[in-house]
Amino acid sequence: MRDRLIVALDTDDGEEIDWLSGTLMDTVRWFKMGFQAFSALGMEAFPWFEQNGHKAFVDLKFHDIPNTVARDVGMMTKHGAHMINMHASGGSEMMQAARKSAENATAKNSIPMPILLGVTVLTSIDETGFQRNFGSERGLTKQVVYLAQLAQEAGLSGVVASPLEIEPIRKACGDDFVIVTPGIRPKWASQGDQRRITTPAEAIQRGADYIVVGRPIIEAEDPLAAAKTILEEMKGA
Ligand code: C5P
Repeated sequence: MRDRLIVALDTDDGEEIDWLSGTLMDTVRWFKMGFQAFSALGMEAFPWFEQNGHKAFVDLKFHDIPNTVARDVGMMTKHGAHMINMHASGGSEMMQAARKSAENATAKNSIPMPILLGVTVLTSIDETGFQRNFGSERGLTKQVVYLAQLAQEAGLSGVVASPLEIEPIRKACGDDFVIVTPGIRPKWASQGDQRRITTPAEAIQRGADYIVVGRPIIEAEDPLAAAKTILEEMKGA
C-alpha cells in the first residue's frame, strides 16, 4: 500500500516541507507538489526526491494551448517527474501534444515515461455545483466518464477523479487505466472543502490505483501516525 498512497505537500513553507517529508520519508513513497510546494522547492525537488527513493507527482493541472502544455509537460518529464496532470477539459489536442512531448523527453534523456493524468471534475464540486458552474445537461458522472475516455483516446495513462466514480470509469476505460483519487477522508478527519469523498479503505475497495491525501495527514497533530493509520486502513480494505 506504500506505493499507492500519495501525500499532498500543500504548503509553501520550505521548512515545513523539509520537516514533513523527513518525518514521512520511511513510511510514504509518493509526494505531490502543487503550486505551493513547487514555488518553495522548484526543480531542486526532483533530484532530492530521487536520492531519497521517492516519487514526485507534479500537480500543476496544466490547462493551456497544446504548444504550451507540451512544453510544460516535456520540461517536467525531463527533470524527473514521475506523475504529471493536466485538465482533460483542455481538450484532445492538448493531451496528445503533452503525451508526444513526454515521449520525446524520455527518449532524449533515457528516462522512464511518467504517468500522465487528466483531471476530470474536481472533487470539491458536487452535482449542484457542477450544474451551477458548468451548466451542462450531461450530469457530473457522465461528464467524468466522458473526460476519462477523451484522456484515454488522447494517450494519457489515466485520470484524477473521485473514488465515487471509479466503477463507471473502469467500465468505460478498462482495468489498465490508472485512477488516482483525491477526495479521501478518513472517518476521523474533517471534510473541509472536499465534496465527493470516501474513506481510504473504501477508495481501495472500489479499485483506486492511488489515493491522494493532504490535510488529514499534513495538518494532523502527528502526521506520521496519521499516515500509518491510513496505510493500515488501506491494508484492511
Ligand atoms: O487536503 P486534501 O486531502 O483535500 O488534498 C487533496 C489534494 O489533491 C489537494 O492538493 C488538491 O489540490 C488535490 N486535488 C484534488 N482534486 C483534484 C485534483 C487534485 O483535491 N481533482
